[in-house]
Amino acid sequence: MKAIVCTKYGPPEVLRLKEVEKPTPKHNEVCIKIYATAVTASDIFIRGSQMPIQFWLPMRLSIGLTKPRKSIIGLVLAGEIESVGKDIKRFKTGDQVYGVTGFGLGAYAEYKCMKEIDSTHGCLALKPTTITYEEATAAVYGGLLALQYIEKGNIQRGQKVLIYGASGTSGTIAVQLAKYYGAETIGVCSTTNLELVKSLGADKVMDYTKEDSINLIEHYDFILDAVGKVKTSKLKNECKKALSPNGKYISIDDGRLELKSERLVKLKELIDTGSIKPVIDRTYQLEQIVEAHEYVGKGHKKGGVAITVEHEAK
Ligand SMILES: NC(=O)c1ccc[n+]([C@@H]2O[C@H](COP(=O)([O-])OP(=O)(O)OC[C@H]3O[C@@H](n4cnc5c(N)ncnc54)[C@H](OP(=O)(O)O)[C@@H]3O)[C@@H](O)[C@H]2O)c1
Repeated sequence: MKAIVCTKYGPPEVLRLKEVEKPTPKHNEVCIKIYATAVTASDIFIRGSQMPIQFWLPMRLSIGLTKPRKSIIGLVLAGEIESVGKDIKRFKTGDQVYGVTGFGLGAYAEYKCMKEIDSTHGCLALKPTTITYEEATAAVYGGLLALQYIEKGNIQRGQKVLIYGASGTSGTIAVQLAKYYGAETIGVCSTTNLELVKSLGADKVMDYTKEDSINLIEHYDFILDAVGKVKTSKLKNECKKALSPNGKYISIDDGRLELKSERLVKLKELIDTGSIKPVIDRTYQLEQIVEAHEYVGKGHKKGGVAITVEHEAK
């Protein structure tokens, strides 16, 4: 099968398209024929090894100290169950699924074998039926991150919720989730993305690149920083001081992404009932992975960047 291999940490060019052996599922695994994967912010950290300092050692211990332990990287997949091991109960051949591979990595390939139960090596669920495989990759990664951190906010109807970094993969879904829970939602992004964030349902938007945005700051019941601790602005620092008496501020970098298929099931329901729509910025082919990494590495993607995995007709 075709796969993208990464045998050393470095710039996007370390990624190479190669022919490798197709995996066979164990008794407790499914084999997924991947139709789409994604280049996520995490993939950039993994490949380039440039990650928030608090994640560097735990991440390197998990994925390989001096080089990637698993040469096929990639965290997110959407595809179809091609075959199942004899102990599999949740899925059958032909099911359309979406999921995250966690420390198992391996999504930059035509096929990936995964356990059906949640573990540090991933979680899997039936894919929403109303979106494409490419859109499903943004829903998995952005959706899992956004839902995990929005749940921490315990949002009550009518509360003021600010999403800092509202135009990224997780931010675009966080805005829609905050609206779904009935919050007055304020999205922060740069000038070019203000209209996008409004179109997702934000009641107000603020531009972090403009000094006078500071005059628009109110008191917030919950602030989710959806871009993480590395990226900041004067506006972000000022917002942190503008919490209501019981207000809460949380960064998407506080803690680890929880790989829970129950959240994927919930996201599927929210997507299929029209409450949430994942946003895709660009789509590349697997063969264009270097270009895709260069683009995502610039740090300004709007929603997710998907990779289509084409299979040769047999
Ligand atoms: N806790 C965990 O286990 C875990 C796992 C994975 C990822 N993460 C964190 O989640 C973060 C978000 O990932 P993501 O893929 O959702 O983000 P993303 O899509 O890479 O975010 C890109 C967005 O960030 C915005 N942005 C860039 N600099 C900004 C700034 N200074 N202020 C406000 N917005 C800014 C950009 O908007 P403009 O183009 O408008 O500037 C762009 O729309 C990662 O960077 C990582 O720190 C955490």
